Amino acid sequence: MSADLEISETAFWVNEVRARNEALSGDIYAKLWASRKNEAIWREYDQQLSGDHYEFYFGIRSRYFLSLLQSSLAAHPDLVFVNVGCGLSNYAFLAEGLSKSIEIDFPNVVQFKREKTLEWQKQGLLPPRHIVYLSANLNEADQRQTLLEKLRVEIAGKPAFILMEGITYFLDHNCLTALFELFAQVQTRDCRLAFDFFDPIRGADPPSARFRSFLETRIGWSRDAYNFFEPAELVRMTQKYYKIEERSNILEKQNEFLKKPVLSPENVAAASYACLKRL
Ligand SMILES: C[S@@+](CC[C@H](N)C(=O)[O-])C[C@H]1O[C@@H](n2cnc3c(N)ncnc32)[C@H](O)[C@@H]1O
Repeated sequence: MSADLEISETAFWVNEVRARNEALSGDIYAKLWASRKNEAIWREYDQQLSGDHYEFYFGIRSRYFLSLLQSSLAAHPDLVFVNVGCGLSNYAFLAEGLSKSIEIDFPNVVQFKREKTLEWQKQGLLPPRHIVYLSANLNEADQRQTLLEKLRVEIAGKPAFILMEGITYFLDHNCLTALFELFAQVQTRDCRLAFDFFDPIRGADPPSARFRSFLETRIGWSRDAYNFFEPAELVRMTQKYYKIEERSNILEKQNEFLKKPVLSPENVAAASYACLKRL
């Protein structure tokens, strides 16, 4: 086995797992992105990490963020959805009545996503939507500045829900702080910013450590390269612009989305979730 995958390829895996339990993830389009290669990766993954509940991990995460998007849309019919580190997630299609989505990722990811999406829309496999694709390496200051200018134009003062799903730990700490400041400049009062994150203590739990070890062999990411931060640091980074609407974690959220709780710190990476509101 070699480190032959890139970070962006993690976006395929996530859909593979969402598709395995549509009832939980609520993502009826994830299966479109399925491929033999990803199935093979997940088989390998299952063998190495058997017993770790990643179907629930990704299913609950998606379901939670989808519920936030839907309630934001119910509150603001003219909502603009901004999907940062969008990968191949399908929220733009899952939220009925969404007037505009902005998808942001590395250039190769958004180009691939745009092409496939257009193809599937032509075939009637995806519903029509107004989607704007923007590319940036979010770790680069000049690219963030360009992104800010484009977001100003595209959001144009409308209410915006900004999602960062599965990406905070891949970004440099200073860049993440800069991104929070950037988002604050394009969001209006009471608009939501939601993301998942790991604090260093939770990130050290055995399932998280196993997952990082797997990623190290598959994408060459050093086990120490992740950006984990404590809840107190989350407050420090954001309090100038945002208040915390909800802070939770996967173990709490399973009670909302699973009939019977199955997750424990022994069998799932204990991801935390934050939903902030613009002051
Ligand atoms: C684990 S995937 C999650 C994708 C998607 N949000 C989801 O949950 O299905 C992480 C995504 O973040 C993107 N990403 C990571 N670092 C990035 C960076 N510096 N700039 C832009 N995108 C980045 C990757 O390309 C990838 O699509």
